[in-house]
Amino acid sequence: MKKEKINFEQYFSEVYGERWAQLSTALKNPSKQVIRPNGFVSQPAKTTQKTTDFPFYTSEKNQMVQELSDGLKKYYVMDLASIICAQSLEVGPADFVLDMCAAPGGKSLILFEHLNQGQLWCNELSAARRQKLKNVIREYIPEDQRERIFIKGKDGSRYGLIHPDTFDKILVDAPCSGERHLLHNPKELEKWSPKRTKRLAANQYSLLCSALLACKSGGHIVYSTCSISPQENDEVIKKLLNKKGHAVVLDRPTIHHASVEKTEFGMQILPDQSEHGPIYFSRLLKK
Ligand SMILES: C[S@@+](CC[C@H](N)C(=O)[O-])C[C@H]1O[C@@H](n2cnc3c(N)ncnc32)[C@H](O)[C@@H]1O
Repeated sequence: MKKEKINFEQYFSEVYGERWAQLSTALKNPSKQVIRPNGFVSQPAKTTQKTTDFPFYTSEKNQMVQELSDGLKKYYVMDLASIICAQSLEVGPADFVLDMCAAPGGKSLILFEHLNQGQLWCNELSAARRQKLKNVIREYIPEDQRERIFIKGKDGSRYGLIHPDTFDKILVDAPCSGERHLLHNPKELEKWSPKRTKRLAANQYSLLCSALLACKSGGHIVYSTCSISPQENDEVIKKLLNKKGHAVVLDRPTIHHASVEKTEFGMQILPDQSEHGPIYFSRLLKK
């Protein structure tokens, strides 16, 4: 007898059990975003501002978020979960940083806030999305500081071969299933199958292996996705630790934020427990 195809609902009900009903409702609600002052034009200093201080974005505040100062946008609107994830890389002032999958560039802005002398390479494979990334950098970062940002257009999975042992910090914010987006697009949801998450997980693993090769010894990698599928999250890290444990260890950051839940190999922020996410991230140290 032909095996019946498992659908999205069945798959995630199995993964999340009783939690799924609440989580799927939360994912169907519009995502809540916060307004963060652009650290390059606004005070107080970006590094001291607590993530709990940011107000939620509402359409009434749209005029405010369009405000400019010296030609730069004064605020950016972002999911708080993305801010926490990018901060977990703990970029230092003189680091050489790679944002391997960078467009549209929200996390690049957070990474660059901590770089006073170092360089940031923002890589993005898609030409159209690379253009968005360039616009974001131009809108938020002063011209004299943009000289330390380099936009690249390579396949991230090739960095390890082309630039081995090069970067102090690497963010791999990998392309993923993006289930929240799927739940808002019935046609896309219809096409979903478990093969999708399996295929993406293989791609994510190759990006992460490339990052491991491209990272200097003693450097850090943050791997992240906005997927709720453990196959694209903890399972990718587990595979790396199993296969490359001689070269890499888990190095969990200390994060004091009520929204953050620990998973076996990383952390997640899910919208049923907080008003943010979904996001998964895991920090690794290259031996
Ligand atoms: C999750 S999004 C990144 C979001 C971004 N980090 C941010 O915070 O704004 C993943 C990006 O990776 C890009 N991408 C997909 N495959 C890639 C590859 N092999 N190398 C580099 N970038 C890739 C996609 O086009 C997409 O823009």
